[in-house]
Amino acid sequence: MNRLASRLFIGTVVTGAIALPLAMAQKPAPAPAPPPARATDGVLDNASRMVDAGRDTFRNDTFGSEAFWADTIQLHKAIAGEKLGGIGGGVSPKTALAVGLKVDAEKIPAATAAAIKGGKVNLDDPATTLALLKLDAVVGVKGTFDPQGKLTAVGIQCSLCHSTVDDSFAPGIGKRRDGWPNRDLDVGTIISLAPNLAPVEKLLGVNNATLKKVLTSWGPGRFDAEVFFDGKAMRPDGKSASTLIPAAFGLAGVNMATYVGWGSITYWNAMVAVNEMHGVGRFFDARLADKKKYPIAVKAKSYDTKPEADRVTAKLGALHFYQLALPVPTPPAGSVDAQAVTRGGALFNGAAKCASCHVPPLYTEPGNNMHLPAEIGIDAFQANRGPVGRYRTTPLRGMFTKTKGGFYHDGRFATMPDVVEHYDRHFKLRLDAKQKADLAAFVMSL
Ligand code: HEC
Ligand code: HEC
Repeated sequence: MNRLASRLFIGTVVTGAIALPLAMAQKPAPAPAPPPARATDGVLDNASRMVDAGRDTFRNDTFGSEAFWADTIQLHKAIAGEKLGGIGGGVSPKTALAVGLKVDAEKIPAATAAAIKGGKVNLDDPATTLALLKLDAVVGVKGTFDPQGKLTAVGIQCSLCHSTVDDSFAPGIGKRRDGWPNRDLDVGTIISLAPNLAPVEKLLGVNNATLKKVLTSWGPGRFDAEVFFDGKAMRPDGKSASTLIPAAFGLAGVNMATYVGWGSITYWNAMVAVNEMHGVGRFFDARLADKKKYPIAVKAKSYDTKPEADRVTAKLGALHFYQLALPVPTPPAGSVDAQAVTRGGALFNGAAKCASCHVPPLYTEPGNNMHLPAEIGIDAFQANRGPVGRYRTTPLRGMFTKTKGGFYHDGRFATMPDVVEHYDRHFKLRLDAKQKADLAAFVMSL
């Protein structure tokens, strides 16, 4: 028998074998339904467990950062105010919303929601803020209360900076949108409310007035992740050295994370949880043990933390996984001109050469996605604060969530047409006005 014939033969046997049970199946007693494939798929089960655990960490974990925010700088006292056992006037819900904090509407019981809608809840009263904290409804901030209802501590969560809400209940109040950068959040002003900033002043080697000036110079949607390592609060041109809060979605497949490529997502998560949020955990990076470049990191030993407890490391795997699973939001229907987008896409991938760095569909380079400042025609200040003196090619998806505060790491370009104008000049593209508008429309559609 040749090979073909043998295959045909096997085929016939198999067909015959299948025919038999089919004939039997016509009898009344139905075979028990096979268990769904999902239940026996260890990978899918693991994936869904990782997503659940990662979401819980992203939304709810403070990593023990109460040690800094409450025990050290005593922010909880400023939130509660003197009448409720704290210090000063307290923070009303109106003030909290004004500094960009968001409220998770799904945590508000129906009766309370109705009372808010009916104007029966005093949004000028810090007691209402405490009630919201008790409901665990303030996105990114966790309050701890004693049995008498006194606020005894606050800690912060990843969602503080990397989540917003959909405003479906009221401005600043709605369903959570994990991964969206909170460009309303005025982190500097919030920190500056804390009654005891002396330890931070000591660490940075500045007085209270200078520290407050620095903190209030950040503005909404911004934070300075490097100042606690290099102590550089201002750029040489006198502007704030802070950067914009980036999106935490759209990073699957992206190699280097952060504007200056500190490392992978999980590298940065450990760094942030321990050294930015001031959680309790182990972190190690010998690159920061550089007295000249990172004097504050050396002073604080933040390059090699060895706390007794480690409330971070065990959570990194699932936290990483969750961020990779965050969907990239698409622009609202009708917000993009489809024809302009098509024309702009052709330019992006062709004559304007954008896709040579922003490689679709990642919109950053597969590989080492880092560039010298001169390549993109900007100054080296922020790049030089990072480990390799370069800027990371920003992955561009979900741009419509990042319009507040401008574009590039420090928001130096107020609008997308300004970004396009910059590239047109720098790369001598000689695009006409219509082409520039089309290119901007394409990027905003991603
Ligand atoms: C106080 C605000 C704040 C908090 C809290 C915060 N981040 Fe960030 N995050 C930032 C800023 C600002 C950057 C940009 C830093 C840079 O590039 O220098 C950033 C960068 C990132 C990036 C890199 C994004 C990119 O485009 O590569 C990821 C991922 C990230 N954060 C995840 C997290 C996670 C997870 C947590 C909790 C463990 C967290 N962040 C907590 C402000 C914050
Ligand atoms: C040589 C590589 C390179 C090329 C070519 C390039 N970019 Fe970029 N792009 C970068 C880098 C690096 C950054 C990060 C700059 C920063 O944050 O300071 C960036 C940032 C951006 C941003 C800001 C994103 C944000 O979230 O703030 C936009 C928008 C953008 N590029 C669009 C384009 C367009 C449009 C083109 C084509 C005209 C283009 N880029 C060509 C490397 C490149």
